[in-house]
Amino acid sequence: MLSKEQLDKRILVQEHFAKEHLPHELSEAQVEQLNDEIIAELKARDACLVAHYYCDPLVQAIAEKSGGCVADSLEMARFGARHSASTLVVAGVRFMGETAKILSPEKRILMPTLEATCSLDLGCPVDDFSAFCDQHPEREVVVYANTSAAVKARADWVVTSSIAVQVIEHLAEQDKKIIWAPDKHLGTYVQKETGADMLLWDGACIVHEEFKAKGLLDLKQVYPNAAILVHPESPDAVVQLADAVGSTSQLIKAAQELPNETLIVATDRGIFYKMQQAAPGKTFIEAPTGGSGATCRSCAHCPWMAMNGLQNILDGLRQGKEEVFVDAELRQNALRPLERMLSFQA
Ligand code: 13P
Ligand code: SF4
Repeated sequence: MLSKEQLDKRILVQEHFAKEHLPHELSEAQVEQLNDEIIAELKARDACLVAHYYCDPLVQAIAEKSGGCVADSLEMARFGARHSASTLVVAGVRFMGETAKILSPEKRILMPTLEATCSLDLGCPVDDFSAFCDQHPEREVVVYANTSAAVKARADWVVTSSIAVQVIEHLAEQDKKIIWAPDKHLGTYVQKETGADMLLWDGACIVHEEFKAKGLLDLKQVYPNAAILVHPESPDAVVQLADAVGSTSQLIKAAQELPNETLIVATDRGIFYKMQQAAPGKTFIEAPTGGSGATCRSCAHCPWMAMNGLQNILDGLRQGKEEVFVDAELRQNALRPLERMLSFQA
């Protein structure tokens, strides 16, 4: 597993990349120009743009406008696999591009930058993970989608946060014991919900891990009528304060369906773009990451998701340099647990 120091260094490099390469303040005319060029390139290259909810709102907007999709990691995978385009541009992080390639090997998968990774993926190197699994051969191996193709290839099941509870419930009903990786917080949440026997890998998301229960309680005093929405990659003390816990798409649904006019949201702030569309007129507040114990670099925004911008989507399409490849044998082995997830019906 990467040490805290190694991880911090990686994040600094990514933040430097974002500062150097992404124009943060585009004029309206520049946005319009880039949008027009992206739409033209997508058309000319039979390509479709798929973006995650945590991407910059400008990226989400062009994905929608160009006929692509904005979704959680499960729906991104489903949409990309179903779409007839010969090229998919995946605006998100590396594992999302790899998942698209595993599901659609005949498609060309481009990303705005292959540098966009995820702390969960980084914190679960395949050799260490394989050795861990070898020590517990009697256990079913369930990995979160936020992992490398190699880690998926070692697993029996892949899950996203949208269906993690249902899949583990299903396995627990068959008295299966489970290895869960890499996110210990999501693992703890699923374990509590299902009562399953789960051995947890010690990984965490650097964004969600920073949400603070104490700060959340203080904020709730200021907004007593607000509902608290929490992604289960957050620590248990934060999850316990939630009115709704769920994947990104489940949180958007909760924002729409809960009667509360004010919502405090513990996940990446990129999600506000879609939440505002789903529940116009409601007030959204970022859950606190600060306070006296704060150690965050990124606060409520993923430094790797932030590496996706209009300019590198356009450059990526034109130059085709940031293409995702997955070794053929690895792909076969990673496909099995992924297909299990996609065909799973609760
Ligand atoms: P979702 O599966 O909810 O989209 O989450 C992906 C992710 O990376 C959350 O941090
Ligand atoms: Fe990974 Fe966390 Fe970023 Fe999601 S928000 S991609 S889990 S680092």
